[in-house]
Amino acid sequence: MDKLVIEGGRRIVGEIRVDGAKNAALPLLAATLLAPGTHRLENVPDLRDTRTMLRLLASFGVEWEREPGGALLLNSDRVENFEASYDLVKTMRASVLVLGPLLARLGRARVSLPGGCAIGARPIDFHTAGLAALGADFDLDAGYVDGRAARLTGNTVYFDIPSVTGTENILMAAVRARGTTVIKNAAREPEIGNLIDMLTGMGARIKGRGSDILEVEGVDELGPASVRIIPDRIETGTFMLAAAATGGELRINGCSPQHLPALIEKLRRAGVKVDQGDDWILVARDGGDITAVDVKTMPYPGFPTDLQAQFMALMTLARGTSVITETIFENRFMHVAELRRLGADISIDGHSAVVRGRKNLRGANVMATDLRASASLVIAGLVADGVTEISRIYHLDRGYAGLEKKLARAGAVIRRESE
Ligand code: EPU
Repeated sequence: MDKLVIEGGRRIVGEIRVDGAKNAALPLLAATLLAPGTHRLENVPDLRDTRTMLRLLASFGVEWEREPGGALLLNSDRVENFEASYDLVKTMRASVLVLGPLLARLGRARVSLPGGCAIGARPIDFHTAGLAALGADFDLDAGYVDGRAARLTGNTVYFDIPSVTGTENILMAAVRARGTTVIKNAAREPEIGNLIDMLTGMGARIKGRGSDILEVEGVDELGPASVRIIPDRIETGTFMLAAAATGGELRINGCSPQHLPALIEKLRRAGVKVDQGDDWILVARDGGDITAVDVKTMPYPGFPTDLQAQFMALMTLARGTSVITETIFENRFMHVAELRRLGADISIDGHSAVVRGRKNLRGANVMATDLRASASLVIAGLVADGVTEISRIYHLDRGYAGLEKKLARAGAVIRRESE
């Protein structure tokens, strides 16, 4: 198992380029199941999760290759199998994204029910209830959700809470259903806009892109699409926070600043300088203090839960006390105990963490518990005096491509070692 070793106290300075978004690549890869032909996806990040999704697609019959320039070509003329096995689903919950496309294409889908995960119970009842509203029948059999649908039919689907992958699954089913589907209280994350662009490119008819009401008019036939994955806003935000925490100056290229409204606002209030262009962000903090600011996670365009842990790492160094409230997942404070090992002063009160800022952190051995928690430990380790060793970084590899290499090129002293 690999670990990261960080010698803290170096400023993050220079330029970094971000990769394509994991959480856009996963649904767009799943969408290739919907229509025969050769789909072309540009800017797919090379991550453990995207590799898992490609293995899953291959198990259904999709054949894929990389063009010399890096774009993925995926041929889904033959989609025969419809079972997503426990072995793959247990390593990646987003495997559930094949449920909608398989039901739409084959009228059948068997997907292992994902278990709980480090950040919460994370049920898939919204997915199955929405697909049932479109006419699918579900059984639970040996830990598998077994769905059947002769022909999906449009209907109204309402989400109690806007679910990102839930909205994506219903969209992918509705584009092939008979008649019109209206999704109310749909999630509005930019990754959903990317999926809508792909589906539209395949011939789907969808109105309401960017809003919480989506109207889909089903079509009988879809064809292959060619689309580019949007930049990863969470990777971008992670680098912004690393630069801010270390008092550095970093230009992040190839990103989408318009997808990070809440983080940019909060960083400015914390006293960090943020400049932006169409596809770049410059973050600078020249030795001035960080001011404590409160944050509450919310569905987009609110503050992303996927940046909560990294923002907390910054707040451990702020002047004053900040309250960080997690409203999306019930157990997303696993990083708190590890940040405390580095000397952070944090207490948990229900869904809120109260962070009393300190002058500095001290290096220690810590353990990664989930993907974004790992990123917060990297940020804390970059700042801490002395050496920080982070074990179980396979979590990090699920969602960040070459994080330590990118940071090392921007001044960090960080290396990967085998334990
Ligand atoms: N929920 C239910 N029932 C459902 C679905 C969701 O109760 O059937 C609840 C969840 O438990 C949660 C809330 O609804 O409390 C919202 O969850 P959502 O469904 O939006 O989460 P998700 O689609 O499973 C995606 C991202 C996550 C990200 C969340 C929230 C992908 C592949 N995953 O998950 O990303 O945290 O949206 O923005 O898009 C990550 O990248 O580290 C990550 C965890």
